Amino acid sequence: MITLGVETTAHTFGVGIIKDKKILANVKDTYTTETGGIIPVQAAEHHKRVAEDILKRALDKASISMGDVDLIAYSRGPGLGPCLRAGSRFAAGLSFKNRIPLIGVNHCIAHLEIGSMISDVKDPVLMYVSGANTQVIAYESGKYRIFGETLDMGLGNFLDSFARYLGIGFPGGPKVAKLAEKGKQFVKLPYVVKGMDISLSGILTNLKQKVEKIKSGKVDYTINDLCYSVQEDVFSMVLEVTERAVFHCNKKEVLIGGGVGCNKRLQEMSRKMCEEDNLKLYVPENNLLSDNGVMIAWLGYKKFKALREDEKQELTVKSKEDVMNVEVRPYERTDMVKVYWR
Ligand code: ATP
Ligand code: FE2
Repeated sequence: MITLGVETTAHTFGVGIIKDKKILANVKDTYTTETGGIIPVQAAEHHKRVAEDILKRALDKASISMGDVDLIAYSRGPGLGPCLRAGSRFAAGLSFKNRIPLIGVNHCIAHLEIGSMISDVKDPVLMYVSGANTQVIAYESGKYRIFGETLDMGLGNFLDSFARYLGIGFPGGPKVAKLAEKGKQFVKLPYVVKGMDISLSGILTNLKQKVEKIKSGKVDYTINDLCYSVQEDVFSMVLEVTERAVFHCNKKEVLIGGGVGCNKRLQEMSRKMCEEDNLKLYVPENNLLSDNGVMIAWLGYKKFKALREDEKQELTVKSKEDVMNVEVRPYERTDMVKVYWR
């Protein structure tokens, strides 16, 4: 069975094609800005502009045509309204034109479920660290529950904001990581874990003050030291919450998800923690950690397989009007989704 997944929750327009568990294509194009953050309407315009080309490239890569596709999956939420609408209408249009069933999936859960496509992971705690989201998630009685999360900004957005302040461009995570390699001393920063949640905005303010001190020559540490220290600090915070969730839920596996998961130092710290606690760690490759269409296709496939035949029949989009009205859920939280496919 061939599934095509469309991802458009934020800056990335991605199309993934899978044949059962096998990846046939994973093509994406990301909206970037020279300065400042993402402007939702502009990102949506980007998605509309590149959609046909990305689809064509994915089909070519997979050596198939639309007629070979058995199911289309799209990210229904959470995400930026204009971006979600651009992607869902594109996917619904394909469903209508080609008479293919269409299924919507939750983006955050797709980050988690991708683990089961690429490995033998069974029941992990997901450390989900992306731009907009930072959540520690695990399955308990019918739903993926959030055991801890950020109280303000996501880890990626936090690193991006810090990088913007330093004037080193977007996305900031990889740039901070590069500078951190040359850091020599640890500079003490606020460490903010409140119960099972973390908070990052105060650390950002503190970092900005420290940058100003460096500029005025008042301190002996450098920007490299700050980059090194901020990684040690905030990654420890997320790992502390993850570790507690693991023991609370009595799980044996940790899965990393989201773009910040590409960070080599975070992976190394996670590996160390898992070794000490006798846990198995799963780290998808970079292309599957950051936003992508493959994870959307995979979750769509899993959900579809769990439906009855009559439910499957209902999924194909039947009119142009239905294409425009296809459902999006910009604020859907992970723990609102009933997990019927496990
Ligand atoms: P979501 O909608 O799930 O919140 P997202 O749209 O923010 O996802 P992702 O692709 O999952 O997108 O993650 C992007 C983030 O990952 C950016 O903030 C970027 O700075 C960060 N990032 C990418 N590579 C690295 C790295 N090596 N180290 C740290 N951060 C990284
Ligand atoms: Fe994401």
